[in-house]
Amino acid sequence: MGAGPSCPAQSHLGGRASPAPLRKLAHVRIKAAVLEEFGAPLAVQEVELAEPRAGEVLVRLVACGVCHTDMYTASGADPSGYAPAVLGHEGAGVVEAVGDGVTSVELGDHVVTLFSPQCGECIHCRDQRTNLCLAIREQQNQGYLPDGTTRISRVGGDPIRHFMGTSTFAEYTVMPEIALAKISKDAPLDRACLFACGLSTGLGAAMKTAKVEPGSTCVVFGAGMVGLGAVAGCRLQGAERIVCIDLSQERLELARGQGATDLLTGGPDAVQEVLDMTGGFGADYTFEATGLVAVMRQAVESARMGWGLATMCGVAGRGETLDVIPRYLITGRRVAGSSFGGLKGRDEVPKLVDRYLAGEIDVDPFISHTLTLAEVNRGFELMEAQDGIRSVIAFS
Ligand code: CU
Ligand code: ZN
Repeated sequence: MGAGPSCPAQSHLGGRASPAPLRKLAHVRIKAAVLEEFGAPLAVQEVELAEPRAGEVLVRLVACGVCHTDMYTASGADPSGYAPAVLGHEGAGVVEAVGDGVTSVELGDHVVTLFSPQCGECIHCRDQRTNLCLAIREQQNQGYLPDGTTRISRVGGDPIRHFMGTSTFAEYTVMPEIALAKISKDAPLDRACLFACGLSTGLGAAMKTAKVEPGSTCVVFGAGMVGLGAVAGCRLQGAERIVCIDLSQERLELARGQGATDLLTGGPDAVQEVLDMTGGFGADYTFEATGLVAVMRQAVESARMGWGLATMCGVAGRGETLDVIPRYLITGRRVAGSSFGGLKGRDEVPKLVDRYLAGEIDVDPFISHTLTLAEVNRGFELMEAQDGIRSVIAFS
């Protein structure tokens, strides 16, 4: 953005059309949901956003899902949280401006935001075994863009930090180029945004981390966004039997829609029930998508002797530990962890979106509520009440 008639953010704001002074970065005013104080509702307000610097991109958000991680951070339960910050990380939108040196996206491209970037150059990016890009972790974790500064600030005042490198509870955001996945323009952005976090996490856990083989038996613990994504991923991989376990009949019905063949109500008997269903052996692949360590243990214990793989997708509370009886491992079970489904986001998210467009992934049932940015706190309330799978903010 900056000087010139093509600054969409400025035209969006109407009156602020005075030309930017030379050698000073242009700022625009946007609406954003700011975490001001832990445990208090987010404050939707005007903030200033500076233009993208080298390697950065200005994105106009079209849609953004409301995810547990946002609520977890807002609550103050996350000890690494900080304020003030603009939350949100499940975004999809349109590129409105690029900084110097940006070559992989251009004006008008449709993008999904990635809290897990892909620089393509670090030792992890060059290795097929992991998606944990090392390029900007430190700055991102502290709420800064890679150069150690923020583009967000109070109107005429102090900086406000970014969140997960994304800050998508905002009309516009500035993000590193390496944290944007360019997707097909055919994909509705209010559906594509789910690929920015939960849905891809579940799909990837089955398709990338576990690499489920055709004909296998899978068990998915938890039928939230991630668990339902894992069910869909198992189906896409050709699993023969997909057992989904949850406490809610409503969510279990959604799991059936994604390809689950058997539905179980969760509880202390879940392991025994899985064993009973599998001739006493357990499942080829199990997935944990609740974040509860007791359920993680069940996922390990219901994996098959000899080769069963238990993949942990849920995020446990700080300091909690997973109890595993070593005999389970000695007799051939393996435990894996999966972050963002093991997906290298820039390469693989666009492919998943293409599979959605080809009719292979049914995204609509996940979207239970559509909200405005001003209603973001309502999204948290709905999540707390376990009402639906996802609320999506639609920016007008
Ligand atoms: Cu998320
Ligand atoms: Zn990297």
